[in-house]
Amino acid sequence: MRLYSDLAPWFHLLTHPSDYADEAEFVRRVVDEVVSGEARTLLELGSGGGNNASHLKERFKCTLTDLSFEMLALSQELNPDCEHLEGDMRTLRLGRTFDVVFIHDAVSYLTSEDDLGAAIETAAVHVRPDGVVVLTPDATREIFKSGIDTGGHDGEDGRSLRYLEWTHASEEPDGTTYVVDYAILLRERNRPVRVVHDQHTLGLFPGATWHRLIENAGLELVDTGVENPFALEQAAFVARRPAK
Ligand SMILES: C[S@@+](CC[C@H](N)C(=O)[O-])C[C@H]1O[C@@H](n2cnc3c(N)ncnc32)[C@H](O)[C@@H]1O
Repeated sequence: MRLYSDLAPWFHLLTHPSDYADEAEFVRRVVDEVVSGEARTLLELGSGGGNNASHLKERFKCTLTDLSFEMLALSQELNPDCEHLEGDMRTLRLGRTFDVVFIHDAVSYLTSEDDLGAAIETAAVHVRPDGVVVLTPDATREIFKSGIDTGGHDGEDGRSLRYLEWTHASEEPDGTTYVVDYAILLRERNRPVRVVHDQHTLGLFPGATWHRLIENAGLELVDTGVENPFALEQAAFVARRPAK
């Protein structure tokens, strides 16, 4: 995916850190409601451009991990005060635990049940007993909607980006994926506008599959009373690692 490799330096013009304040606030409120004991440290798997982290770091000491070196470099500029580590959320093993493990939209890039189960296992391995895991995929089978979205931002350096995001169902109705096509316009001072097409294949699982994989990883699902402001466009699974 070009968005997370050669186009990574444009990512904050596609989705700006300021767009993430409400999502980060939701995570903070969920953790405060569910956690037993102090919640000081947070591990994010698939932290991307560090947008959520730019808000979460006001509340937690954040360790940020991603598969993409380019995205980590971008996040490092925004969040020089956070620890950054390269790693695949399916296999990462840091040998330490955190009060909170969070996976935002990056978890949507896991397209098979085995991969999703492996990422949830990684979250379970890294959360301390009585700590909290928060998973917020872009869709479940129940809330998935096809459609288009548009947006983009102007940078302070003369660069601007506009995009059209086209979400559509997979051609295999019983498959575990859907597709998002991005048409992206990139404008730079004194240069012709460039057009890029980037196609992303994302995972789509019923809520029941998420519940089963979370429980298989030894986590306990928690029904939180905190209202998710994005409930129509984003699922949220909250779990606790039971104290032995
Ligand atoms: C939409 S971005 C995440 C943006 C992030 N929520 C933020 O606040 O900036 C998705 C990220 O998932 C990462 N990713 C995809 N598959 C991954 C995997 N298996 N392990 C770790 N990161 C992964 C990509 O490299 C990309 O940076």
